[in-house]
Amino acid sequence: MAKKLYVKTFGCQMNVYDSARMADVLAPHGYSSADSAEGADLVILNTCHIREKAAEKVYSELGRLNILKAARRAEGRRMYIAVGGCVGQAEGKEILRRAPFVDLVMGPQSYHRLPDLLRRAEAGGVVDTEFPSESKFDHLPEESGATASGSRVSAFLTIQEGCDRFCTFCVVPYTRGAEFSRPVADVENEARRLVAYGTREITLLGQNVNAYHGAGDTGEFSLARLIHRLAEIEGLQRLRYTTSHPRDLSADLISAHGDVAVLMPFLHLPVQSGSDVVLKAMNRQHSADDYRRLIEKLRAARPDIALSSDFIVGFPGESDAAFEETLTLAREIEFAQAFSFKYSPRPGTPAAENEAQIPEAVKSARLAALQAVLGDSQAAFNANMIGRTLPVLFERPGRHANQLLGRTPYAQSVHAELPAEYRGHCVDIVITEAHTNSLAGEVAPGSLPAPTSDAPISAESFDEGQPA
Ligand code: 5AD
Ligand code: SF4
Repeated sequence: MAKKLYVKTFGCQMNVYDSARMADVLAPHGYSSADSAEGADLVILNTCHIREKAAEKVYSELGRLNILKAARRAEGRRMYIAVGGCVGQAEGKEILRRAPFVDLVMGPQSYHRLPDLLRRAEAGGVVDTEFPSESKFDHLPEESGATASGSRVSAFLTIQEGCDRFCTFCVVPYTRGAEFSRPVADVENEARRLVAYGTREITLLGQNVNAYHGAGDTGEFSLARLIHRLAEIEGLQRLRYTTSHPRDLSADLISAHGDVAVLMPFLHLPVQSGSDVVLKAMNRQHSADDYRRLIEKLRAARPDIALSSDFIVGFPGESDAAFEETLTLAREIEFAQAFSFKYSPRPGTPAAENEAQIPEAVKSARLAALQAVLGDSQAAFNANMIGRTLPVLFERPGRHANQLLGRTPYAQSVHAELPAEYRGHCVDIVITEAHTNSLAGEVAPGSLPAPTSDAPISAESFDEGQPA
């Protein structure tokens, strides 16, 4: 019987990818995707545990779902509620204790077992947070390459999962487990399928994606070698990767930014802090100057590369002087965009036990000061685009009729007036307006290609950062 599935996704791009794969796993079992929890037979919350209040958000979401579940029961039907993702992994049984109406709790390594887990959940709450010895990637069905409404212009592809770096603030090594790289052939096949369905841009995902070391036909592949291999796929116009750790940014990867045309001139490279004392306490294993040197090398390889970063303010023990060093680094590098967060103690991580926790008011003041600096450099980066002609890959309808939304090579969103047929096309756009978070422009005179009749395209894109 046809059943409706609603997956609500929180957090990083990897969760977006995982949610699509859960839908792929369940499709052969009669589930099709719904746009809301109302009327759904199965609701999955794909949760994030990276920062504060994540678990509380999940419990309040569950409270709302329980009302829908009761209404459905009154109609003589059952709504299954599942909690997946990193809160599922971290909280496990605690979720069933606090929300006994939940049918299934699972961690990110259990998705290939979903049909079986759901069968077991018929009899009552099931918890599966084991890290299985087999890889879920060997058991997940092939990525369908298409959403309900067509394929995606810009798609995510997970190539690496988990992390062995153990930054002292981060839950990822505990929730996602040990670092694992998918074999090259699997990645390449998935990329080819996506492109055959109309995808033009692929973002390779991993918690520490540049630690990638997948088995290939000619030995082990680094991320740089994988990028060279994927760049050969005909029809693939753009490649990106996220999220990187500075320590794993190898020389061959830096060179790839100069050598591989489809590799976009944009890199999200979290620095977290500009203070060596704080970086050491975070166990980042590099200094602020190491980071500066990497940026110099990247800019030498690809002079127009745009940089993005993550920052944490108010890490335990961060002095005023240490925070000033973060401001200095942020001003120097002139990031094209950046995410910044107040330190949030995560249960079970070493920094949460540190006694030198910073008062909330200090964290807030530092966050505001840092965001002012980062906001200024983002605005300046965008303003600098006015008058330039940039190739924009159009992904989806814009806010107004006859408008499409796309991205520049530097990952900026661009609105332009363009017929819907140009979704999935790269068009030269003269930038006419710059805002903090987006640009607007007009088709460059004489540059409009004839649209081709590719597979139907629908787009998904997601903006939140993920760790490394
Ligand atoms: N507190 C605040 N920010 C955090 N991040 C990861 N863990 C924490 C934490 N405990 C941030 C880092 C990371 C981004 C995805 O989230 O900056 O790069
Ligand atoms: Fe790993 Fe990134 Fe978390 Fe550090 S911040 S432990 S590199 S996932």
